[in-house]
Amino acid sequence: MLEGKNVNLRVVEKEDLPLISEWTANPDFLGEYVSLWQKSKAEWQKRYDNLHAEEKWFLIEKKDGTKVGFIQHFPIESFQELGYGLVPNERGKGYCSEAVELVVDYLFLSKDVVRIQAQTDVRNVASQKILEKAGFKKEGTIRKNDFIRGEWRDRYLFSILREEWKEPKILTRTEKK
Ligand SMILES: CC(C)(COP(=O)(O)OP(=O)(O)OC[C@H]1O[C@@H](n2cnc3c(N)ncnc32)[C@H](O)[C@@H]1OP(=O)(O)O)[C@@H](O)C(=O)NCCC(=O)NCCS
Repeated sequence: MLEGKNVNLRVVEKEDLPLISEWTANPDFLGEYVSLWQKSKAEWQKRYDNLHAEEKWFLIEKKDGTKVGFIQHFPIESFQELGYGLVPNERGKGYCSEAVELVVDYLFLSKDVVRIQAQTDVRNVASQKILEKAGFKKEGTIRKNDFIRGEWRDRYLFSILREEWKEPKILTRTEKK
């Protein structure tokens, strides 16, 4: 468990997959700036069973244990990329900002990684603010990368380098496993 001030990150277990399947089947959960996915529980199970050794999914939980979203990190070449989402009625409270800062601390503290990146629709201002608050820098635009709600959309690519991170923002302990 990665412990923050207002949220904890708990590794997704097999038992959590129905909840993730339910969330991601709901267009309101994915929001306006992410392609719609429709995956069955079996497809989620298969994806989960074949996770890369350097990929991890976490549930974002409030301190009372309420599950409010998820965040994942996964390898791209020699670095790591993040993805995240929150249930609509828990947005705007800073939970995802904290979750991103926790995972950045966790990755730089526990892995020999020099770069963490994230990609976001150019219109997704909330996601861009989260990344900038966590110390990410915008690197550029990936043109016509996503087919979202019937049209091709551009993305921004963000990254943070180890030398820009310097020290943990939140996390002082890393999980044992
Ligand atoms: C992106 C998402 C995780 C943001 O969650 P959130 O709870 O609003 O994020 P936070 O509260 O931690 O912070 C968001 C920041 O953006 C700001 N913000 C939120 N919506 C905004 C908008 N439409 N325009 C401008 N700023 C906005 C908030 O005020 C906050 O800024 P602040 O810290 O300076 O006050 C959430 O909207 C979501 O799950 N969306 C659907 C999935 C998704 O888009 N995932 C990201 C894919 S890259």
